[in-house]
Parts: sequence; C-alpha cells; structure tokens
Amino acid sequence: MEKKKPLALACDHAGLPLKEELKKHLDALGEPYVDLGTNDRASVDYPEYAHKLCLEISSGRCARGVLVCGTGVGMCMAANKHKGIRAAVVSDTFSARMTRMHNDANVLCLGARVVGAGLAADILDLFLNTAYEGGRHQRRVDLLNALDENKKP
Ligand code: RB5
Repeated sequence: MEKKKPLALACDHAGLPLKEELKKHLDALGEPYVDLGTNDRASVDYPEYAHKLCLEISSGRCARGVLVCGTGVGMCMAANKHKGIRAAVVSDTFSARMTRMHNDANVLCLGARVVGAGLAADILDLFLNTAYEGGRHQRRVDLLNALDENKKP
C-alpha cells in the first residue's frame, strides 16, 4: 500500500500559537505532518512560508497543506499565486466541508486571530476527511487550473 503523504504545515509569527495547537491535534490523531516553520515568535514574512509550503505540494512530497497567519488572508493570497494550488481561508465548518467537496481545495488557511483552537481543529478534521465530489465541479476546477496558465511564474 502507498505510504500516506504527510500534511504540510507552515505559519508566520502570528500563526505560531495556533499551528502548535493543530500539531497537538494531529499528534493525537496519528496524522503525519511536516512542519516548515516558523518556529519562534520573531517577526517573519508570510509569503515566504506560503511559498515553502506550496513547493512541498508542487513537488509531490505532500498532497495538502495548512497555512496559519493572523487572519489567514495573507497566506491565502500568497498560496493562490502558485500553480496547482487551490487555497481557501476558512473560519467556519460549512465552508471547510464545501471547499473540499466543490473546490477540491488543497491548502487550508486559518487565522490565529480569528478562530480558536477548538474550531480550528474541527475545520482541519473536515479539510482532511471530506472528499472532493467531482462531477459537475470538475469543469469549474479545470477552469480554475486553466487560469494558472495565464500567470507569470
Ligand atoms: C502579521 O502581523 C499579520 O499581518 C499576518 O499574520 C497576516 O494576518 C496577514 O495576512
């Protein structure tokens, strides 16, 4: 059987406390992950961490990732500039489920200053365990992917 790919995790200084909570949650579930930093509270720039994480996905080492910053918004903007990345900033469980079912999101962005650890863990569970529906949504995901071709690398 093929080995399960680890989930990629990254954050900036504002996202660090929530990323640590999510790691505890993943440890309890026995879910494999790779932590790409940052790992201290010194101020860093979120686009650099989003880029690191997207490279893990585009290389095929990881299938999905989670990015955490203060709001989740900056990480999401940075991640969506990468080919093949469909990142969603989520702060409710309905959107967490729908972005997997309809958008086949491969990166979840969370705001440490927006959601508490309990809600974030529920959102992460839905992100990990909800299947993409395909069907009528595939045409739209194909159109999203086609937009990548118009982007400068
Ligand atoms: C850092 O202060 C903050 O701007 C960053 O974590 C994030 O919220 C950006 O979108």
